[in-house]
Amino acid sequence: MSDLPHFQRAWRVVARGPPSKALRLESDLPIPTRIPPGNALVKVQAGGLNPVDYKLMKLLPNFAAGRPTIAAFEFSGVIVDGNGTEWQSGDNIVADLDPRRTFKTKQGALAEYVFVPEKNMVRRPERVTPIEASGVLLVGQTAWQALFHVGGLSEDGAGQTIFISGGSTAVGSFAIQFAKAKGYRVIATASGKNEQYVRDLGADEFIDYTTIDLRKYLVDNPLTTKYSLFLEAVGTLDNALLYLYSQKFLVPGGVFVDVGPQPKGVGEIPKLAKLVFGLIRPRWLGGVEQKFRVFSAEPKQDDMKAIFTLIAEEKVRPLVDSVFEFGDVVKAYERVMSQRATGKVIIKVDPTAD
Ligand SMILES: NC(=O)c1ccc[n+]([C@@H]2O[C@H](COP(=O)([O-])OP(=O)(O)OC[C@H]3O[C@@H](n4cnc5c(N)ncnc54)[C@H](OP(=O)(O)O)[C@@H]3O)[C@@H](O)[C@H]2O)c1
Repeated sequence: MSDLPHFQRAWRVVARGPPSKALRLESDLPIPTRIPPGNALVKVQAGGLNPVDYKLMKLLPNFAAGRPTIAAFEFSGVIVDGNGTEWQSGDNIVADLDPRRTFKTKQGALAEYVFVPEKNMVRRPERVTPIEASGVLLVGQTAWQALFHVGGLSEDGAGQTIFISGGSTAVGSFAIQFAKAKGYRVIATASGKNEQYVRDLGADEFIDYTTIDLRKYLVDNPLTTKYSLFLEAVGTLDNALLYLYSQKFLVPGGVFVDVGPQPKGVGEIPKLAKLVFGLIRPRWLGGVEQKFRVFSAEPKQDDMKAIFTLIAEEKVRPLVDSVFEFGDVVKAYERVMSQRATGKVIIKVDPTAD
């Protein structure tokens, strides 16, 4: 601890708005000296960006978000002070700071030093670089929890098929890989330019959502095999509305899992109302039997370990879309906001990180 500098560079969220307005690069932020019990101090190597980062910047007023806070929620790094936890100085780790918690702690991934609860980290396998590892946990756990916790799939998928809407989103890309690693047959959507990407991840069938009407495909064509689970991994209301037809494409007891349908503006309120009405309508009035589940992923060390075990065994690979220098965080968020990335957008917090 005594060898550490006193000040650090960090990107802080200081206002409500898009990243270009909300973020400020500071170079004289004190390095935390009082580390709460149960937390360890980590020197950050690389940070992963996520849509939730900019969605919260745009949505929440300062008081509700506890600003100023340090931006972003996941990273790779090296323990510099284990502080009596299960971690020792020099351990290479990957961490997920729960967004719900950072409002209080003010900690974030886009700083040189951050304290982290000991259970929010796992060891980084040697074969995975800090840059590759830094973007795995948030979307990886979302995909894992969607399939095996919220969606109730077993880890033996033999003879079952699942459908992933958004196979090239970071969440969908991990979901394809996890499902294939557990023996499921997978059908996934993306735009035509990403067909090879999605097939290389293991998808058995590909659907170009820009040329095929998904509702027609799912509803009007009699399916020979119904799906055990439908994962909506994009976050649009149009896709969420497919739930209303899910008796046609999900097995009885099948689950429609949604990462969170987001209205694009007031113009989509009728669609939201249609979804809500469909959800509350009882079955005896024509309501849907299949379950609809929206959820928010949580850091769970067992899930983190399961994911990095699959990565260490080379059954799943981390996916990096692009890597930006620490000074280029605003540009990096523009890439995330384009909604065209394939894999994670990563920030090199330590310029020597590989
Ligand atoms: N509930 C949770 O806990 C949780 C956690 C993490 C993320 N999320 C949400 O999950 C969603 C995905 O996040 P992410 O980080 O995985 O996204 P992302 O990687 O930034 O998504 C980019 C990809 O989206 C694809 N895409 C865009 N529109 C599409 C559509 N209509 N149909 C199919 N694919 C489409 C693009 O492929 P094409 O170029 O081929 O269109 C692109 O490859 C976001 O809404 C995010 O907020 C929720």
